[in-house]
Parts: sequence; structure tokens; C-alpha cells
Amino acid sequence: MGFAHSYQSVALGAKKKKPKSVKTMKTIAGTMRWGTWGANLDDTGYAKMITGCLQLGIDTFDNADIYGGHTTETGFGGGWRAARVDRSKIKIITKCGIKMNSEVFPYSIKQYDTTYEYIESSVNRSLRELQTDYIDQLLIHRPSPLMDMEDLANTFKEIEGTGKVRSFGVSNFTPYQIDILAELYPLAANQIEVSVIKHSAFTDDSLVLSAANGLEIQAWSPLGGGAFWNAKTEEQQKQINRFKLLCDRYGWSLDEMAYYFLFHHHIGIRPVTGTSKIERIKTTITCEENQITDQQWFEIYEASRGFEVA
Ligand SMILES: NC(=O)c1ccc[n+]([C@@H]2O[C@H](COP(=O)([O-])OP(=O)(O)OC[C@H]3O[C@@H](n4cnc5c(N)ncnc54)[C@H](OP(=O)(O)O)[C@@H]3O)[C@@H](O)[C@H]2O)c1
Repeated sequence: MGFAHSYQSVALGAKKKKPKSVKTMKTIAGTMRWGTWGANLDDTGYAKMITGCLQLGIDTFDNADIYGGHTTETGFGGGWRAARVDRSKIKIITKCGIKMNSEVFPYSIKQYDTTYEYIESSVNRSLRELQTDYIDQLLIHRPSPLMDMEDLANTFKEIEGTGKVRSFGVSNFTPYQIDILAELYPLAANQIEVSVIKHSAFTDDSLVLSAANGLEIQAWSPLGGGAFWNAKTEEQQKQINRFKLLCDRYGWSLDEMAYYFLFHHHIGIRPVTGTSKIERIKTTITCEENQITDQQWFEIYEASRGFEVA
């Protein structure tokens, strides 16, 4: 595997020029809304997103087998190929473990599966759809109530040995589940919902236990899934009004405020963006390169809760 042209030379149309080196950023580009669950991009659209991210220094892309009803991995695979990106220049995360009904897989009931057989077959399918011979990181999408931690750790060891997956992590596990599994296998990442809207991870030991076990934190829905722009209740609208007052004081946009809140933590939280617009992903770069103060962090925290800390 491998291509003669790097993404920079294709994007700039300057085949002989040595590509400029770009600083690698923490941000991860999430693909959940790039396909049929959102922007409905075609191969060219995916390719533009991938190339645009790389030009910003964002080289990690978050996928899942189920996104787009089991079709978004396929789009991403066509996209990075269409962009003629060198595989070694991108890092592909994908997830498995949820059996969700779709046209591709007509399951009769939604359920979780963390058995070796299921994970192995899902990995093989992801490799095919993503058009790659290795996955940089595989996350178990949701913890199953029937999950056997020792079996899961052995599954990771077995699959790691094949070279098909380079590192493993979890998503949406409880702090205690993470602690147990991390004892059995050296997990690399924990992907959880954490944002100015959902901030329990700051107080429920998720961050502490992940860091103590060497897991990086990936924050999904860093903008609350777009809730800032789509309040569903009066309470939410009041919260947004408080955020807006703060943003006016500091000259931030709502998304800047949300990214600053995550980047400020010393642990090095990596936001997983949801937008399908490069201009909006660019905001994360400004926020990663600048800093807020502890006091500003607490002001955002207080605006989110609606009351001061105890
Ligand atoms: N592990 C898990 O269980 C899990 C669960 C959910 C998601 N994820 C991952 O996390 C990623 C992010 O999740 P998310 O999509 O919920 O993220 P998000 O960034 O919180 O929300 C994205 C939504 O906000 C909108 N948006 C962003 N900036 C905006 C602006 N300035 N004005 C108006 N609307 C704006 C986007 O629309 P536009 O596209 O129009 O910008 C999009 O609809 C996903 O792609 C996926 O990779 C993981």
C-alpha cells in the first residue's frame, strides 16, 4: 500500500515542490455526519474534507462501522483513496460492538456484541470498507451488559497479533469498567461525551482513571451535537443565553468557548469534531494554539451549570 503523491502535492498541484511540514494538532475529525447521517458527501466531498483536515494538521479521523447505517466507512475509504493520500499520513479510528439494524445488516433487535467472533468479523469488514490493511485504533463503541472483560482483553491481544489493528480503546465505558479492562490490556484511548453541555467526566473519575491508566481522552460531541444552535427546552435556551453573555465578554464564538473549555484541561483532551465544514473545523486550531485562564474555565463551567461551585 502507498501512493507516489502526498496530500500536499495533490492539493497544491505542485508535484515537484517539497511539501511544507504541518504541525500535528490534537483535534480528531469525526465522520459521523459526513455521509448519509448528515452532509451526504460523495467520494470527492470526503476527499476534500480529508485533504482540508490534513492541511490544518489534523491527521486523525474517527469512524464507526454503524455510521450512515453501515455506509460511512465505505465513503471514507473511497474518500482517502480519491484524495490520493499516503496511508501513513492519516490515522484511522473506527469502532464496533453495536449490532444496529440497517439496510446492510437487517438485525431484528439492537444489541451489543463484544465476543471475539463478532469483533473479528467487524474488523475484517471495516478493513474492506475503509480500503486499508490496518486500522490505527479500534474502539469498543459501548460496553455490553454481557461483556466478559477477560475475553475482551484476549480478543484485543489476538487481533493485535494479526497486525490488523494497531491499538485498542473503549467508548462510553464507566470509569470502573475502564480501570478493570486496563489492568488486563494496555488500552490506548477512551472516547466519551464531554463538553460544556455534558461535563460529568470532570467529576466522575473518567478523566482521572483514564489518565492513570495511560489512556488518551477523546471528546465526542464537543459542541453538544449542535445544541447551541438548536435549543429544545426553555432551560437549554437559558443556558445558551448565559454562554452568549460570556462569549460577548471575551469576544469568543460559542464553538470557540466550547473548544477552549476542553483544551484547557492538563490531561490533553482531544475533541472529536462533528462538523462537515472545514471552516468550522479550523476553529479548533485557534483554540488549541491559544489559552484561557483557570478563572475563565470556571466562568464557562458556572454558565453551564447555572450556579457556582460549592
Ligand atoms: N463514541 C460515541 O459513542 C460517539 C457518539 C457520537 C459521536 N461520536 C463522534 O463524535 C463526532 C462528533 O459528534 P457530533 O457530530 O455530535 O459533534 P458536535 O461538534 O458536538 O456537533 C456537530 C453538529 O454541530 C453543528 N455545528 C458545528 N458548528 C456549528 C456552527 N458554528 N453553527 C451551527 N451549527 C454548527 C454541525 O453542523 P455542520 O456540519 O453544518 O457544521 C453538526 O450538526 C462524530 O462525528 C463521531 O465521530 C462518537
